[in-house]
Parts: sequence; structure tokens; C-alpha cells
Amino acid sequence: MIDIHTHILPRVDDGSESTAMSLKLIEEALESGVHSMIVTPHFFQGVYENYAGEDLQKRWDRLHNAVHRANLPIHLYQGMEIMACDDLPELLKKGKVWTMNSSDYFLLEFAFDEDPAYCKTIIRSCMEAGYRPVIAHPARYYFVQDDPGIVYDWYRSGCCIQLNKGTLLGDNGIRARNTGLSLLRHCVVSCVASDAHRTYWRNADMSQVEELLLDQFGEEYTYMLLEENPDRILRNRELVGYKPVPYDKNT
Ligand SMILES: [Fe+2]
Repeated sequence: MIDIHTHILPRVDDGSESTAMSLKLIEEALESGVHSMIVTPHFFQGVYENYAGEDLQKRWDRLHNAVHRANLPIHLYQGMEIMACDDLPELLKKGKVWTMNSSDYFLLEFAFDEDPAYCKTIIRSCMEAGYRPVIAHPARYYFVQDDPGIVYDWYRSGCCIQLNKGTLLGDNGIRARNTGLSLLRHCVVSCVASDAHRTYWRNADMSQVEELLLDQFGEEYTYMLLEENPDRILRNRELVGYKPVPYDKNT
């Protein structure tokens, strides 16, 4: 499996608290069958100002060296979970934020109660600038829980959709879980990732969600969500998927 959403870069956000904890999270991921991870520290103006640059690169190098010294057979790639902001297209163009493995794909997050019209504007302006949003955990957004058809529209417009394992396992409540399962049934989900933060809170073990997906959606769909599309993101290739099913507004 390839986990495309993790907060294992230590001490830059609300993720891993130390290098030792990051190594533990990686060990846990490896044990559950993950072989590659995209490291996605938060970028959130005014909260986590993790601009791409020397400081972040040094932190990255330190983690990379620690993983090498510990002899852990994991492949790590750079990324960032970027909270939507007005100047995002500019930040992307100027290289101030990390896209996923330097591809056109970037992990985009919205506030839980964001105005869907604002989401649409940001998505469109980033796409016009040549980038492909991978929308992080939409099943957790209240406006999506109210109207999951929004995700169908995002998907049809060329966005990639990422669900959190914790959402599908019920950690974010029944509404988020049901919304996530419904998005999967409507074939508008591109990948499932851990959104790992800490060993004791939102960990990196992907085995339970893999089981759930295999059980409810079968081998081919599960492979697409956990391996094939994440691999395509790393290689900057088009993603694959089934024909999406429109949401019927009357049901
Ligand atoms: Fe995250």
C-alpha cells in the first residue's frame, strides 16, 4: 500500500511529536503492509506556516537520515496538506508549497464549514494554473455531509478524492462514516489514506481499513484505492476509476 496523507514530519504541526514517534509510526505502517508514504505536513496560513524552503528541507533531511539509520524499508516522498487560501495558485506557481512528489497533484483541505462556492473557485483557479487538487477527507466536511453530490461535481471536474481510514472505521462519527461509504458506492473516491498524526491518535496502521474495503468493495476497487491511484499520483499520471454514479437529489 501507498499512504498519501501522513503527518510524520516531526514538530511542524499537530502530527508527530518527535523523530522517535515518527519512526514508530513508520514501523506500524510497514507492519500493516505500507511500503511508501507521502509526508504531508499542514500548510495553514496563520496557523502552520510551513513554507517550502531551507528550514522544512532540513527537517525533511533529518527524518530521512533517521529512517535510513534505523534501516526501515519505507519509501518517503514530499507533500503537504494545504488549507485553501486565496493566493494558493500563486503559492503553487512560485514553489512555496510542496506538491506531491513534485507532481501536478497537491493535497487540498477545506474548513469543515466552508462555503461550497468558495471551494469551487479555489479548485478552478488551481486547475487553471495547471495543478490537480487531491481533496483531503471530504466525508468529514459538514457541507458535504449535507450534500454529497458536491463531491460528485468535484470528481467530474477532474479533482481526485481522498478518504481517511478513520472516517471509514467510524472515528469521526456516524454521519462522516456513512458519507464516506456513500462516496465509495458512487465511485467518486480515488484513494484512501491514514492521515496519521500520532501513535496514540490517528495512527498509521492501514490493516483494518484494508480489511473493511476488501470485505465491502472487493479486491480490484481496494487495490485501486490503496495502491494503483497513489502510485499514479507519485508518477504524475492520470488516475483510474469506475464510472461515477450521480447523486439523485430526490433520495
Ligand atoms: Fe491531514
